Amino acid sequence: MEKKNLDWANLGFGYIQTDKRYVSNFRDGAWDAGTLTTDATVSLTECAGVFHYAQTCFEGLKAYTTSDGHIVTFRPDLNAQRMADTAARLEMPPFPKDRFIEAVQQVVLANEEWVPPFGSGATLYIRPYLFGSSAVIGVKPAEEYQFRILVTPVGPYFKGGARPLKLKVSDFDRAAPHGTGNIKAGLNYAMSLHAIVTAHHEGFDENMYLDATTRTRVEETGGANFLFVTKDNKVVTPKSQTILPSITRRSLMTVAKDYLGLEVEEREVYASELADFAECGLCGTAAVISPVGLVNDHGKEIRFPSGMEKMGPVTQQLYDTLTGIQMGRLKAPEGWIKVIK
Ligand code: PLP
Ligand code: COI
Repeated sequence: MEKKNLDWANLGFGYIQTDKRYVSNFRDGAWDAGTLTTDATVSLTECAGVFHYAQTCFEGLKAYTTSDGHIVTFRPDLNAQRMADTAARLEMPPFPKDRFIEAVQQVVLANEEWVPPFGSGATLYIRPYLFGSSAVIGVKPAEEYQFRILVTPVGPYFKGGARPLKLKVSDFDRAAPHGTGNIKAGLNYAMSLHAIVTAHHEGFDENMYLDATTRTRVEETGGANFLFVTKDNKVVTPKSQTILPSITRRSLMTVAKDYLGLEVEEREVYASELADFAECGLCGTAAVISPVGLVNDHGKEIRFPSGMEKMGPVTQQLYDTLTGIQMGRLKAPEGWIKVIK
């Protein structure tokens, strides 16, 4: 097997069409057997539920080449579970969890030539998605659905790699109380587009969203959860019912506690206490851990002591340990690594 001739080290976070993708259809109340296909297009009725009422959701995970040449994924069972939880909230039939994991395996293997080599800095991003495919004109769930998985090789999510990010406290809300903030619905991202374009236009990399009720508590960004480090090295992450339960964040809390011996705390974090933290980072599959250098809260600039040049020391340790586990350099907790090949 020859790897594709790509400039792996300089990939951005973009879509590159690969050879095969997985497709399964839900009709007459059941999922079909599913198959791999070379057809990268989707053909649907003009009235499909996904188009008008945004009945769609997705997941994101990665395949890694380990130091000893295996191809692995990281905790795909948690993505399968989260997609099932999302589907239930959007009145969609969940794709069975064991089949989700099996399909991830099939599509990664079928695109082995696209899995970035160890040490290249790139990974294979895996994007499972599920949408209403039959016609609906009144507001109701579709009767038919399609589940697909595409893969694409990616580099860092944020331009500039590990350069600390500039965030602004957003004037828009990401999630309502009792809304859909805790699931991975496409609609959460549609409504964040204006906010992210506005932030970019003003020279920021991302938004820090606050809770919609009081506008005092830190929630998350458009595509990642927050981690903070206190001046006495405690790792703190916001507790909220309206943020996505990040698999990376949940894993990092274990890494901080069990691998680095740090104290960890999941609690409400107030925007007013930002200046008290020593380090701040964004964590997620795409973001991995991206350091935050400053947050602008309506003109008031909070600069973290870790600065604008590099990651803070604890963030760096968390990053090295997590990626060490994912790339096989460090022993993983039981069940975290699924070997594909
Ligand atoms: N928060 C949001 C809104 C996201 O889109 C993501 C990405 O999936 C995350 C957090 C991070 O979640 P995970 O670590 O499971 O990728
Ligand atoms: C991921 O991290 O996998 C996501 O889905 C976030 C998205 C903003 C790319």
